[in-house]
Amino acid sequence: MEYRHLGKSGLKVSEIAYGNWITHGSQIEEDAARACVQAALDEGISTFDTADAYAGGHAEEVLGRALKGVRRESVEICTKVYWPVGDGPNNSGLSRKHITESLHNSLRRLGTDYVDLYQAHRYDYETPLEETLRTFDDLVRAGQALYIGVSEWRAEEIESALRIAGQMGLDRIVSNQPQYNMLWRVIEPEVVPVCQREGIGQIVFSPIAQGILTGKYQPGAAPPAGSRATDEKSGARFISRWLTDDVLTAVAGLPALAAEAGLTPAQLAVAWVLQNPTVSAAIVGATRPEQVKDNAGAAGVRLDPDLLGKIDTLLAGVVTRDPSRTESPRKRP
Ligand SMILES: NC(=O)c1ccc[n+]([C@@H]2O[C@H](COP(=O)([O-])OP(=O)(O)OC[C@H]3O[C@@H](n4cnc5c(N)ncnc54)[C@H](OP(=O)(O)O)[C@@H]3O)[C@@H](O)[C@H]2O)c1
Repeated sequence: MEYRHLGKSGLKVSEIAYGNWITHGSQIEEDAARACVQAALDEGISTFDTADAYAGGHAEEVLGRALKGVRRESVEICTKVYWPVGDGPNNSGLSRKHITESLHNSLRRLGTDYVDLYQAHRYDYETPLEETLRTFDDLVRAGQALYIGVSEWRAEEIESALRIAGQMGLDRIVSNQPQYNMLWRVIEPEVVPVCQREGIGQIVFSPIAQGILTGKYQPGAAPPAGSRATDEKSGARFISRWLTDDVLTAVAGLPALAAEAGLTPAQLAVAWVLQNPTVSAAIVGATRPEQVKDNAGAAGVRLDPDLLGKIDTLLAGVVTRDPSRTESPRKRP
């Protein structure tokens, strides 16, 4: 494994991080979740990503149990707050009340006294940014969160957070967690330049587009049994946006390019996001330990510019680059 600084902070994260959205507490049984976490640890993956809302809190519980007994100082545990965890008006968003309560509950479920990175899962247009940043700063001072980050914030929202933190003398955010993969490049025009200038690290999600970039989904064919596209609990709904003939036909050329580079398709996809210098880590999900091992093989890989050009040519018609596609709900969900 290779490790990178999270932006310009002193924290190091593993280039390949392990995330448990859709899987822990939902798609896979607990023994499979534990096997994946163990495989991650065996590969030198130290960075684990979850959220309060994943599987109604069960994802944090499963991860907490899977990491029980692991030396706390050997891992970075990252969680998030924003999406609803209950029906009440204060059970979502980034108010002082909800952030404080949600972290309290996350720590209990994870079985830890602090998280390494606490992230605003989206931007909350219903809460003054000053209130959110002051609350995060208080949690950092209390030692319950060591670093603060955001997820899917626009360039101007990241800039506002940095400006206000500077003016109020509050802890600065160190990271952003956007979706980023060969097909979804909306951070490149605006978010990446701001983050590069300000030393904010990208800890990117869905680097293999939920499995689409592994070559296992073929145009016109039924999805393979046990894959996310067959997970009726939630996975099938989220991956469906990628299951179009256009996308599947374009990505069908990737396995051959990966083979030329001596990589598996998943390794090529994960290595691709890591070529961007503002990316600190790629968070990959998995349902089986073999997938974790496969994905971890992308650490330290350098891709030839010629290969990057071939990927661009292959995917030219199906890449999304519009920066306005980075968005948070206008009203709290
Ligand atoms: N901040 C946010 O809003 C946000 C949103 C989404 C995700 N995330 C984070 O990012 C993490 C990863 O995202 P993700 O799960 O959507 O996307 P992903 O990592 O692109 O896809 C993961 C899925 O692809 C399949 N897979 C993984 N490795 C494979 C391999 N080597 N070969 C074949 N199939 C493989 C597995 O599903 P099957 O085996 O079921 O096919 C796995 O669950 C999440 O767990 C979460 O921590 C954050």
